[in-house]
Amino acid sequence: MNEVLEVIKRRRSIRKYLPDQIKDEELSAILEAAIFAPSGHNEQPWHFLVIQDKELIDRMSEKAKEAMTRSDIDWIVKIGQNARRHIFHNAPTVIVVSGRKGSYSALVDCSAATQNMLLAAESLGIGSCWIGLANFFFQQEEEAKRLSIPEGYEPFYAVTLGYKDPSYQPIAPERKRDVFAYIR
Ligand SMILES: Cc1cc2nc3c(=O)[nH]c(=O)nc-3n(C[C@H](O)[C@H](O)[C@H](O)COP(=O)(O)O)c2cc1C
Repeated sequence: MNEVLEVIKRRRSIRKYLPDQIKDEELSAILEAAIFAPSGHNEQPWHFLVIQDKELIDRMSEKAKEAMTRSDIDWIVKIGQNARRHIFHNAPTVIVVSGRKGSYSALVDCSAATQNMLLAAESLGIGSCWIGLANFFFQQEEEAKRLSIPEGYEPFYAVTLGYKDPSYQPIAPERKRDVFAYIR
């Protein structure tokens, strides 16, 4: 298998990190990978906010969890109530991915950029996780203002980055195999 295919298969969602910050060169390489994603009509309608302020990351987790306890969905309420759960898995770096409102395919383009970051991180031996639950923070307008996301952009997802804690050995969830069809 070539290196790209190996990285794709090896990448896992990492939910336990060492506290050490990743190097700026590593961060730059991951951000560079993000902006080389494809985008509809080549609009590149994305914005990446890098947060390395632990106090802010912890606050975002707490505020997201508070909002989750008000959800109608049982498993979300349970996560919100779990005192040990950190929405960003205590990662030292969190990247908020936002898309330009009104652009042709912002959510899809931002998702492609997000996946590029996850794969770039894995290729550098850095752990990452796509964080949809960050939405519970973004939905709180007053809180989200603290992030100063540029006017006209809306936050979709967050990505955690950090060195993997070796005590955490994630197992790849079983993949559904009956999802292919061929017309030949
Ligand atoms: C849109 C999206 C949102 C996700 N949100 C979260 C999240 O909030 N927290 C988390 O720990 N993992 C999250 N994940 C990671 C998935 O749980 C994970 O990709 C899936 O279980 C497969 O595991 P793998 O990434 O190790 O292959 C998210 C993934 C995607 C694509």
